[in-house]
Amino acid sequence: MAEIFVAIDGPAGSGKSSISKQAARRLDYSYLDTGAAYRALAWWVLERGLSASDSAAIVDALPDWDYSIGIDPDAYVVMVGETDVTDAVREPRVSGVVSSVARVPEIREHVNAMFRDIMRSAPTAGIIVEGRDITTVVAPDAPVRILLTASEEVRMARRSAELTTEKATDVADQLRKRDAADSRVVDFMTASDGVVTVDSTTLNFDQTVDAVLDVIAQQTARTSHG
Ligand code: CDP
Repeated sequence: MAEIFVAIDGPAGSGKSSISKQAARRLDYSYLDTGAAYRALAWWVLERGLSASDSAAIVDALPDWDYSIGIDPDAYVVMVGETDVTDAVREPRVSGVVSSVARVPEIREHVNAMFRDIMRSAPTAGIIVEGRDITTVVAPDAPVRILLTASEEVRMARRSAELTTEKATDVADQLRKRDAADSRVVDFMTASDGVVTVDSTTLNFDQTVDAVLDVIAQQTARTSHG
């Protein structure tokens, strides 16, 4: 049962997923990517031929959505039923509709309950959970809460380097649109009280992992010493 919860929020391209995964490896913690659930649901909605904007139909269908995710940072896999959707959920057609699925309150409550179950039952001492509203809604009492940011320019550049098959300007446009839609639902651009900001604009990958590990070390030391 995991006892140390590390919550990390941030916008697209801030490096949340790769940094959280690597930090979890270094600490022998589990790693939970919450965005994958919204993406897997959006993928399933398209697969079923439902409209991503028909929130009532999606909420009705939720009990049939069979979702699972690997939380071992070295065995990351996203499944819907028997289908491995790890790569499919990153496709632009999914990124393009995920925000409209994620804005529905009933859907958020459903996945949040799932996230809290996964966190509690993780088989490691700690778990790093990353997303957009982990520090504020999913685990506001987590002993370690971090907002990972980077300048918009750097975030766009990182994301277009990941998505090599798409034009950089298209990637930037889509990302800006998605951030704008998402930030209407949760504020992941400003750190709420007690949340430590790590700005990765001028840091490389290893430096960012180290900065996050430093915050975790400091915050857990502080908590355990009362
Ligand atoms: O990797 P990237 O930051 O581009 O996105 P993601 O973390 O995979 O999240 C995909 C989408 O899920 C976001 O654009 C949000 O619409 C939604 N999401 C959310 O609403 N709340 C979260 N805790 C995580 C993701």
